[in-house]
Amino acid sequence: MNERSTLSTGVTPRFSEESLQQIQEIFKRYPADRRQSAVMPILHLAQREFGGWLSRESLDYVAELVGMPPIRVYEVATFYTMYNLKPVGRYHIQACTNISCWLCGSDQVMDALKRKLKIAAGQTTEDKRFTLAEVECLGACVNAPMMQINDDYYENLTTDKVVEIIDRLP
Ligand code: FES
Repeated sequence: MNERSTLSTGVTPRFSEESLQQIQEIFKRYPADRRQSAVMPILHLAQREFGGWLSRESLDYVAELVGMPPIRVYEVATFYTMYNLKPVGRYHIQACTNISCWLCGSDQVMDALKRKLKIAAGQTTEDKRFTLAEVECLGACVNAPMMQINDDYYENLTTDKVVEIIDRLP
């Protein structure tokens, strides 16, 4: 199984009533015969609601909701790195190492994160608090180097600053 394979939990999750209503709103953005176009925002919603990652069963459930063959949903989910295909820690740290960030010291930032968390990129700490990922450009090149932790961006990073940021997390 490679890094972007889907994992099975044997349990089919179900959206809450609130999310199902949100899904109806998402469907309204597209023509009635183009429900499949809603697959990406619905996968995003599924990831949020189902613990920060998408199991095989979550993908199958989304496929059923949008009326797409499951394989097409797997193709979308395995292509885009914003979809997590295995469990992630409470804090999902995505450190950009693309060109602007690399030129401004992302190697040092990444090393500082690895030292601080005592894990390599792609790993989760034993206490399940942190997952560290190395990612491509997150569109904040102007303030490189940067990282994203859950929904928040942290920019103009230095090795000292990343340690402070990690220490300040509740
Ligand atoms: S290269 Fe890092 S945010 Fe663009």
